[in-house]
Amino acid sequence: MDKFEIVGGKPLRGVMAANGSKNAALPILIASLLTDEACEFTRVPALRDIRTTLRLLETLGKKVHHAGHRAAVLASKTIKTRADYHLVKQMRASILVAGPLLARFKRARVPIPGGCAIGLRPIDIHLSGFERLGARTSYSQGDVLLSADSLHPARIPLSFPSVGATENLMMAAAAVEGTTTIENAAREPEIDALGEFLRLMGAEVSGTGTRTIRVRGRAVLRGGRYEIPADRIESGTFLIAAAATRGDLLLEKARPSDLKAVIGALERVGAKILVQGTSIHLRMAGRPRAASIKTSPHPGFPTDLQPPWMALMSLARGKSLVRETIFEKRMLHAAELARMGAQIHVDGDQARIDGVAALNGAPVMASDLRAGAALVVAALAAKGETVIDRVYHIDRGYERLEKRLRGLGARVRRLSS
Ligand code: UD1
Repeated sequence: MDKFEIVGGKPLRGVMAANGSKNAALPILIASLLTDEACEFTRVPALRDIRTTLRLLETLGKKVHHAGHRAAVLASKTIKTRADYHLVKQMRASILVAGPLLARFKRARVPIPGGCAIGLRPIDIHLSGFERLGARTSYSQGDVLLSADSLHPARIPLSFPSVGATENLMMAAAAVEGTTTIENAAREPEIDALGEFLRLMGAEVSGTGTRTIRVRGRAVLRGGRYEIPADRIESGTFLIAAAATRGDLLLEKARPSDLKAVIGALERVGAKILVQGTSIHLRMAGRPRAASIKTSPHPGFPTDLQPPWMALMSLARGKSLVRETIFEKRMLHAAELARMGAQIHVDGDQARIDGVAALNGAPVMASDLRAGAALVVAALAAKGETVIDRVYHIDRGYERLEKRLRGLGARVRRLSS
């Protein structure tokens, strides 16, 4: 297992461009199951989860070309409707194949994605939505089985604005003739991106970015070309890391409008931020002030940036609170940050952080993707050397992180085993 060795204390300085978004790319690549025509994608981040998704599409019968930041999912003769357990267990987003397969072939068999380090993550909202569209759901040997004689458009109120359920239901509705309405839908920017791609395929999609999404589906959808938009979570991580190291970062090709809550929070702690078009310039002179945050669905503070934020607040002047309202167990990074000298007291979904003047390097372990990002932020700002184990978690969501950080002056090495 690879490790990162980080010698902290150097401010991140320089210019870098945002990569394409992992979380936008995953459902959009999967949406290619909705057509027999070719779909071509650019600005696809080169990440493990992307490779897993493309492999999943291949095992279902799609032909895939993938090089650098380009991917093409080509025409296919036959598509299997059963997803492979070994791929699904690697990546929870694999459940997103259920919607397109069900809508096109009237059946799908997908292993139930298990829990993960940050909590249980059930799929009940996805399934009750499919039932509204006329599907039957049952379980066998750890798989969920979906079937229907025919599907019909429906009004689907979600009990919670789940990102994955909204995406799965949008994709299913795109291939069901008539207008489906998803209420209490997720409003994350990745939903907008999926809506754009489904429109390109021929579905009529309106209301993305609001609580009510309408999808007028078509029996036959076409292929298309699409550029994946910038990754707001990757951008946010770099901005937080620049603030923690008191750096000066010009982030280009980003989407500042997707990052309002994070930019606002960074300004509250003392960062000077200038947004111009698609660039974000952050400068941080001294120690951050303490500022509390609560995660919530978009446009609130994103849960995926809560761990890096906690690393930043560990170094703040004063006390702050971090409340996690999306995932039940997303505080595992607190104990690892404490190994570096952070003063954090976790009580259920809330962490109380008493900022310290400096963190100290230590051997630590990434428990999941964003917890790993928090450790990187802490290590970059800490005194001395930190070795982060289980970097494979970080590689799921950050492309060549060590090279990009080195480009900003950080002292980071990958230790390959
Ligand atoms: C997506 C993102 C993830 C992000 C999350 C919240 C991808 C690939 N992943 O995950 O990075 O942290 O949105 O912004 O885009 N829930 C249920 N039942 C369901 C579905 C969800 O109870 O059927 C619960 C989950 O357990 C969780 C909460 O709802 O507590 C949010 O989950 P959801 O919005 O679905 O997140 P994902 O789509 O899995």
